[in-house]
Amino acid sequence: MRGPPILFTPFPMKGLTLKNRIAMTPLYLGYANPDGTVNSLMLEHYREMAASGAALIVMEHTGVAPSGLGSPFMVRADHDRYVPGLAKLAQTIHQEGTVAFLQINHTGRYAFPQERLVPSPVKAGDVVPREMAAEEIGRIVEAFAAAAGRGKEAGFDGVEIHGGTGYLLVQFFSPRTNHRTDAYGGPLENRMRFPLQVVDAVLAKVGANYPVGYRFLADEWLPDGLHPEETTVLARELERRGIAYLSVMAGTYDSFPLPEYIQREREEAYMASFAGLIKEVVPHTPIITAGRIQTPETAKRILEEGTADLIGLARVLFADPLWPKKAEGRLKKPIVKCEPSCALCSKRVMIGKPAFCSQWDKDRKETFLAKIGESQEKAK
Ligand SMILES: Cc1cc2nc3c(=O)[nH]c(=O)nc-3n(C[C@H](O)[C@H](O)[C@H](O)COP(=O)(O)O)c2cc1C
Repeated sequence: MRGPPILFTPFPMKGLTLKNRIAMTPLYLGYANPDGTVNSLMLEHYREMAASGAALIVMEHTGVAPSGLGSPFMVRADHDRYVPGLAKLAQTIHQEGTVAFLQINHTGRYAFPQERLVPSPVKAGDVVPREMAAEEIGRIVEAFAAAAGRGKEAGFDGVEIHGGTGYLLVQFFSPRTNHRTDAYGGPLENRMRFPLQVVDAVLAKVGANYPVGYRFLADEWLPDGLHPEETTVLARELERRGIAYLSVMAGTYDSFPLPEYIQREREEAYMASFAGLIKEVVPHTPIITAGRIQTPETAKRILEEGTADLIGLARVLFADPLWPKKAEGRLKKPIVKCEPSCALCSKRVMIGKPAFCSQWDKDRKETFLAKIGESQEKAK
């Protein structure tokens, strides 16, 4: 059976042509070296993802400053010495005929260094993070711009600013985590200042024609958090600045553990309604939606209904790197689904171990574990 054609129509995006409507959204797997450099495990992984047939690979979040690293195994772009490794990644993705974007991030209150820099000292677990002084804010804005410049220099076709998952940009934007009384806190206009300064600095660094996307949090999924009344205002500001796309998501580390979130997260296309909502307010900006889009039929429905322009796959592609080829009918085998009740990849990265997928067959798992020097027994 041939796959639904709309999924395989090309899509123009800010001077680039995506060969179809499938994008890999960032998936941090803990594969980088402990000093944030790229290694063969990462290159092999991205080669496979790029060879999947997806049109666009947005690489996992990459650190813009030592203070913003989420783990020692997070790939880094905070110094020129990281450019050659990043260039290898971009080349690897390009060799498979796939467009490559680099996601840049500062994790703020979720950073692993002891001193966590944040807008306001709101506890993260047992840790009380440190409020950033105005000049530190300026330095982090510059760090985003410099990292974006390195991504461009490394040969990436674009960069994506991480404005999702409750990381630093969201920490400034959200009234839950920003209690400042200066120009960065209080009314919405002030809380948007830091994310917009980051966007402006990045655009100034890479040039207005270079594609800059944004991972966009539409809703925090917490009663006292961000909701579309406020996030739609930011969406309009981003459209005004000519952002290449918004990759819409919902939820943060503070909502992920809640029972309602866990239940909703198991449903097919669980974030698509938020994408549709944002698309209505920014009709000129391409919208990506991800979140358990397990079947080509769901993808087709989302595109035909105009809920989003591009289909994002993260764990779904990791579970079955042949998803796009199977969806197109080039490979006549059933799609291997990401198991909704399984959180193995997330659990592994949370404890600092490189992730693998429970859906991989036995041989693949064994080969992977041998490569990282772990036994089947220890990996459970
Ligand atoms: C283990 C793991 C790592 C992730 N890493 C990132 C990341 O680095 N940046 C990001 O924007 N989203 C990240 N995400 C979110 C995914 O891009 C995606 O939005 C989400 O997993 C839903 O899509 P899926 O059901 O196809 O996985 C991550 C998700 C998981 C489970």
